[in-house]
Amino acid sequence: MIAPIRWAGDRLVLLDQRRLPLEEKEQECADWRQVADAIRTLAVRGAPAIGVAAAFGVALAARESRATVFDDFLADLEVALKGLAATRPTAVNLFWALERMRRVCLEHHALSPDQLNARLLAEALAIQDEDVAANRAMGEHGARLVPDRARILTHCNTGALATAGYGTALGVVRAAHSRGRLDLLWVNETRPVLQGARLTAWECAKEGIPHRVISDVAAAALMARGQVDLVITGADRIAANGDTANKIGTYGLAVLANHHGIPFYVAAPFSTIDPALASGALIPIEERDASEVRRVGSQLIAPEASPVYNPAFDVTPAALITAIITERGVYRPPFAFSR
Ligand code: MRU
Repeated sequence: MIAPIRWAGDRLVLLDQRRLPLEEKEQECADWRQVADAIRTLAVRGAPAIGVAAAFGVALAARESRATVFDDFLADLEVALKGLAATRPTAVNLFWALERMRRVCLEHHALSPDQLNARLLAEALAIQDEDVAANRAMGEHGARLVPDRARILTHCNTGALATAGYGTALGVVRAAHSRGRLDLLWVNETRPVLQGARLTAWECAKEGIPHRVISDVAAAALMARGQVDLVITGADRIAANGDTANKIGTYGLAVLANHHGIPFYVAAPFSTIDPALASGALIPIEERDASEVRRVGSQLIAPEASPVYNPAFDVTPAALITAIITERGVYRPPFAFSR
């Protein structure tokens, strides 16, 4: 199994996703600041993977602390929690994981700093393991929705790379493939950063999942010609009413799928649901650097002087979503997520 995030005894080792598919190189993080940097620069990306990496970042911060009493230890940890939280605003899994680490620390205030170190590392490892288990459960639930000889279209990368392993939406595709139900996966290239072409295609090629990469603008024509049976994507944050933030371009696909009468599924763990937000209008949308749009890789494709707008995510209204697949089962409208 592709393992993008690995704890190596005293440091975190990430498969550097910025270099894929050209190079399979690992990036080592020996302190929490390096983890924050890896998240900010997309060395590690995808909502669940960001959460898992951040949890290990907190474990690293705990190891770095020289505090001898709990209050000083907590103060050191708060600096890291704040720094990690400031990396990317949209994926709620980041804040969910940081809050879980913080809670564990507070609950164990009676432990010595050394004991707390061990406890926080155990929690990060548990978050990692639970994520893989949730993905496998999503795969089971989701594969039941996939018809025989299915032609599935997906966006961005929601695979092993975007999680602790196996994947969410791509996990459902994996499960369908292993049951012999997948005819073909259409992989949207996913401009501007090309997570589909670079990462999803890399995972599919590695595992023999039948796929074809398409430019994002080809999806409408494929649907009109009856070449797509269902669309499935992941999520970065799901509001209480089911409105779903995901990689820019997802909303357009949902509109297209609805127009053509094609089911549009979202697969995400419960850690992606933000019960505090009543609707998608409240989800913060990250804006990233103009260079991502002006360039493809290092190649300039627009005048350096041209202004750019680069929102990294959009919001798909719940009304366009056929069902949301979670580790606890399949939710249909109206999306009443019970904790
Ligand atoms: O900017 P990214 O690459 O972190 O965006 C990733 C996505 O939008 C994914 O679809 C989402 O995080 C779900 S990953 C299982």
